[in-house]
Amino acid sequence: MRKTVLAALTALAAFSATARADNFPSHPITIIVPFSAGGPTDSMARILGERMQRSLGQTITIENVTGAAGSLGVGRVVRSPPDGYTISIGHLGTHVANGAIYNLGYDLVTDLEPVVLLPSNPMVIVSKNAVPAKTLGELLAWMKAKPTPATAGTAGAGSGSHIAGLYFENVTGIKLQYVPYRGTAPALNDLVAGQIDIIVDQLSNSIAQVRAGTIRAYAVTDGKRVESASEIPTTDEAGLPGFHMTLWSGLWVPKGTPKDIVTKLNAAAVEAMNDPAVRKKFDGLGLQVPPPDQLTPEALGTWQKAEIAKWWPMIKAANVKVQ
Ligand code: MLT
Repeated sequence: MRKTVLAALTALAAFSATARADNFPSHPITIIVPFSAGGPTDSMARILGERMQRSLGQTITIENVTGAAGSLGVGRVVRSPPDGYTISIGHLGTHVANGAIYNLGYDLVTDLEPVVLLPSNPMVIVSKNAVPAKTLGELLAWMKAKPTPATAGTAGAGSGSHIAGLYFENVTGIKLQYVPYRGTAPALNDLVAGQIDIIVDQLSNSIAQVRAGTIRAYAVTDGKRVESASEIPTTDEAGLPGFHMTLWSGLWVPKGTPKDIVTKLNAAAVEAMNDPAVRKKFDGLGLQVPPPDQLTPEALGTWQKAEIAKWWPMIKAANVKVQ
């Protein structure tokens, strides 16, 4: 008797999960952006969300849940029902680095289901215009000559801009004084205003201000120039050979979200990334869409684990202190 009831319940659960997946989405979906509005992660979420709505036939809203280098926003998704209606957008910082710095209270690999790898962009070394330097060499000399460390804006300990700063310190031997914000959007505002000295920022965040001439760019952290910002030399050309860093992003949902729902969300995101109008926007921001074979949920899972293995040693060695 007990066996029959159990079998019936299991069948019922499976049936309702399938029914839920078939019926997905039946109400609005929320993408949790763990950084400030107007920043690179927020912009990517808004461009994607707007196009994914069309494929999914349902409204996608963006909610900014900021703090602790994005770990609060990711935590919000981890604790959400595994039904596909709450999506985490994040990147190397939130879904790799933070695990080596914070006692998160959740596991970045086992408490989240990967959905899709999103576009990536190189970092760019930018400074306020008041810095008396026109080349990367002059910038490094100015920083070395300064009696106090240059101030570097970040989106918090563990964020992409912070990990890039740590890497910059490693390859140059120059100490930085980090100034944390809830995202690189407010950090960029302060750079334009001359309140901080530099940011090792995502190109997609700084590119508009560089073009406007309100800040100065010295190099992109890649082996090749970026088509939409070809005036900016590479770190190899500018005198920091090998200082390469690409910040990739991704989408995740809570652990236990039905596979069919993950597949639907993945398909909608891939369709969005293949849309010519969306591509044009990404190209303009210096964002590179991954190749098709990298656009499966499994590919993101594999990539995330590889990045954890690659970056955690450097991050742990930096012995980052968080308040
Ligand atoms: C942001 O959207 O503010 C950035 O992704 C922050 C960062 O990690 O640097």
